[in-house]
Amino acid sequence: MTGVLEGRVAVVTGGANGIGAAICRRFAAEGAAVVVNDLGGGTDGSGADAGRAVAVAAEIRAAGGRAVADGGDVSDTATGTRLVETPVHEFGGLAVVVNAAGILRDRMIFNMSDAEWDDVIRVHLRGHVSASARRPRTSAPSAGPTATSGS
Ligand SMILES: NC(=O)c1ccc[n+]([C@@H]2O[C@H](COP(=O)([O-])OP(=O)(O)OC[C@H]3O[C@@H](n4cnc5c(N)ncnc54)[C@H](O)[C@@H]3O)[C@@H](O)[C@H]2O)c1
Repeated sequence: MTGVLEGRVAVVTGGANGIGAAICRRFAAEGAAVVVNDLGGGTDGSGADAGRAVAVAAEIRAAGGRAVADGGDVSDTATGTRLVETPVHEFGGLAVVVNAAGILRDRMIFNMSDAEWDDVIRVHLRGHVSASARRPRTSAPSAGPTATSGS
């Protein structure tokens, strides 16, 4: 049976863990080619490990799907640019962007530091428009929805 996403190309940020990883696996199982982006940091956003995105992409390929990894920080402009170029270069288009990358600052507004606030804004606002905002600037096939999860 042909998957409902056969021939489609997707970028999933935060794709190495939790909701993003589940989306990557399901999209691939439904026939989509997937760019798995994940910085691979801790829950608090510290550190980086591109190996986690590499592992999810490898798992998808081992199951017969199509996937490549990107270990960039979604709040970096260079990552946003790469995330609209890589799917076109590797798979010939970009149909869907899922923004699942996120960090957790388990605070109320009155006990959150300025630095913690800035980190959340950087990852959850700048990061969520990072790839999406650059889609129209590409001349490549680029149609379809952007889905964003955040809290
Ligand atoms: N799990 C929930 O119950 C829940 C509820 C509401 C909203 N959310 C939101 O949904 C999103 C995903 O949640 P989750 O539970 O799967 O989180 P998760 O922590 O399991 O996964 C998030 C992933 O994002 C990656 N990431 C963090 N900062 C990044 C950056 N700058 N660039 C690239 N990757 C980065 C992390 O390495 C991690 O693998 C988050 O934005 C979260 O706030 C989750």
